[in-house]
Amino acid sequence: MSPYAHITGWGMAVPERVLTNDELAQMVDTSDEWIVSRTGIRERHIASNEETTASLATDAALSALATANLKPAALDLIIVSTSSPEYIFPATACLVQDRLGATKAGAFDLLAACSGFIYGVHMATQAIRTGAARNALVIGAETLSRLVDWKDRNTCVLFGDGAGAFILQASDEPGGVLSGVMHSDGSGGNLLAIRGGGSANPTSIQTINDGLHYIEMNGREVFRFATRVMSQATQEALHKADLTIDQVKLIIPHQANLRIIEAAAKGLDVPLDRLFINLDRYGNTSTASIPIATVEAIQQGRLLPGDKVVFVGFGAGLTWGSVAVEWSGPFPGVRRVRPRTMRWYARIRSVMLRLLRKIDSWFYGRGQS
Ligand code: ACO
Repeated sequence: MSPYAHITGWGMAVPERVLTNDELAQMVDTSDEWIVSRTGIRERHIASNEETTASLATDAALSALATANLKPAALDLIIVSTSSPEYIFPATACLVQDRLGATKAGAFDLLAACSGFIYGVHMATQAIRTGAARNALVIGAETLSRLVDWKDRNTCVLFGDGAGAFILQASDEPGGVLSGVMHSDGSGGNLLAIRGGGSANPTSIQTINDGLHYIEMNGREVFRFATRVMSQATQEALHKADLTIDQVKLIIPHQANLRIIEAAAKGLDVPLDRLFINLDRYGNTSTASIPIATVEAIQQGRLLPGDKVVFVGFGAGLTWGSVAVEWSGPFPGVRRVRPRTMRWYARIRSVMLRLLRKIDSWFYGRGQS
């Protein structure tokens, strides 16, 4: 019998710096009234110069490992979902692997924009169900503030920075992730894109002058697409899990726009308070929004072990998807794990490995001459 994939740990990290709508109104031609009425967003967190996607991802991961009481060395798989990676390569997931000291884990990045965390949870679940992994870490992490044109009022009011993480673990106990769906439609790729810096438009003075390194968005079209797919994807995951909407305690949607979430509630014929909302304080943190919202839902006592919950999101690509979960919690009876100590060991290990590599190459170089 294939094992079940339980979510046993969760964590989040957001930068300290908060940027309010009023501050934005001093930067571009906008107002608190416009932003709140059109999006529901009041403020967002913005990374400092020292904070990056990998640093936020690592903080969220350490917190998730501490919740699950799992040592980094027990991880078999690390997936970092991000559209604002540390570099084109190496993968941000490998930087996180090193910073955690996750000595046994395979690590890779996944790019499905705001749907990425859903895709990642679905993929990690399949790895656990097939026996390829027993312990997996899925992180959604973004510093979109680095990719936004702060002169473009159409986009700069929407996004925020942050990271959230889940630990998934194998168990013979039924429950955990019950179903998942993933969809894409690349014909809408142009609706939300960063066109510069890749193979089509390698970075040049021209691409920079043309602003191709910034996020470009057709807000109206993305809005129309989002309102169409949110309730549809939720229903699909429910159908696959053999659940009805009435059995679901909470829906945690991607936090892009309050009006999109309201449309989803209407489409599903459920009251708005069955959908968790915290975008007023974080803005759209893209792939990080669902795990951040989950952490806050747990803190507020709105998600308890045994509850059925649906995560649903949409994003650039176009992509969309959902997963239905019977909520678990940490496995009982394991020794407490301390994140601070983990970070410290990982740092020492990383320095030692770099040193060994230097010594090795020195000896190798001598042998060659
Ligand atoms: N302040 C003031 N006015 C603004 C602002 C602003 N920040 N932004 C746009 N406007 C203006 C526009 O210029 C337009 O003026 P015009 O009529 O003179 O041309 C007017 O407001 C109305 O613009 P609309 O685009 O019709 O506004 P709408 O009500 O659709 O709201 C919004 C725009 C908030 C962007 C909405 O379309 C939306 O949320 N779309 C979805 C975006 C989204 O979710 N993106 C993330 C996807 S997830 C991912 O993968 C990253």
